Amino acid sequence: MSTETPVSAQAAGATTPELAAGVAQFLAPVVIDLEALVVNGKQAHWNVRGADFIAIHELLDQLVDHAQEFADDSAERVVALGLPVDSRLETVAAKATLPALSDGFQDWKVTVTQVVAQIDAALVTVRAAVEGLDEVDLNSQDIVIGIERGLVKDRWLLQSHLAA
Ligand SMILES: [Fe+2]
Repeated sequence: MSTETPVSAQAAGATTPELAAGVAQFLAPVVIDLEALVVNGKQAHWNVRGADFIAIHELLDQLVDHAQEFADDSAERVVALGLPVDSRLETVAAKATLPALSDGFQDWKVTVTQVVAQIDAALVTVRAAVEGLDEVDLNSQDIVIGIERGLVKDRWLLQSHLAA
């Protein structure tokens, strides 16, 4: 008869409250900024007008889809490690770092300029997470590294419309 103690489920999960808190510290702001980008991206998608309407309209939906997917990856990493996520409307409104969007219909050049500024603000938060998670959890860092790459690509696809 074996005398070995079975590995407990918790030990097998290899996660601790300290790890979860350390990861949440960096991923929670990422979730908030990405959820804000989802809402503002749709606002821009609906209200863009002008000669480049259809290209920008469609690219903005792509951005929204990616931002939602990235938020989901970040939020579920935190939850998987054992902590809840606060992505309530009021929390996102209070804590998001994105600049304000202009209200109403917008010429596509204004839309692109403002949405690029939204992405840039989110990228500051994402890059802070990449840096901070380097010492905390490389698996969580891997998530935000991928998000950085994706947002930079979406930024390029939009911003290139403004190039001379
Ligand atoms: Fe749509």
